[in-house]
Amino acid sequence: MLKGFGLVTILALAMACGGGDTSTEGASTPAPGGAPAAPPTDLITADQVKLGEIDPGMVAKGKELYDVKCQACHSTGTNRVVGPGWKNLLDQRKPEWIMNMIVHTDAMLETDPEAQAMLEECLVRMPNQNLSVDDARNVLEFIRSL
Ligand code: HEC
Repeated sequence: MLKGFGLVTILALAMACGGGDTSTEGASTPAPGGAPAAPPTDLITADQVKLGEIDPGMVAKGKELYDVKCQACHSTGTNRVVGPGWKNLLDQRKPEWIMNMIVHTDAMLETDPEAQAMLEECLVRMPNQNLSVDDARNVLEFIRSL
């Protein structure tokens, strides 16, 4: 009984989250109505994330983390499960934004307008998965490989 209810609830939430392709907010869209809240100072900045050619070793490590910690809520396609699918995510989000969403999940959900908009759509708050910056960088490499 309870199990069935949970499944229906999750499906309803997944649908409320909208289609993967309709979420077109660009990473550079300014917050409506003025300046966004000042981000916490320990957020990862653009110059801390260097992207070169895709590194297969990092992709493999990132996939291992994905299988254990992210797969329940994220697909590697464009469809949403609980959270958005990851295919072509780099077309929509800056690398450092993705890193911050993974490492500083709560700070992002509290201060970043785009993360907040997603939370409003998805109605489920992504839990912090306690990944290190290196772990997150490997997951980012895995996302790039999709
Ligand atoms: C319990 C479900 C859940 C788990 C587990 C989870 N996430 Fe999420 N994730 C979400 C939801 C829901 C969102 C949308 C924001 C919100 O509602 O909090 C999200 C958003 C994201 C985003 C932004 C996606 C976009 O379209 O901009 C990234 C990146 C992300 N998660 C990475 C991860 C990584 C990496 C892991 C594993 C280490 C992970 N998530 C584990 C639920 C989850």
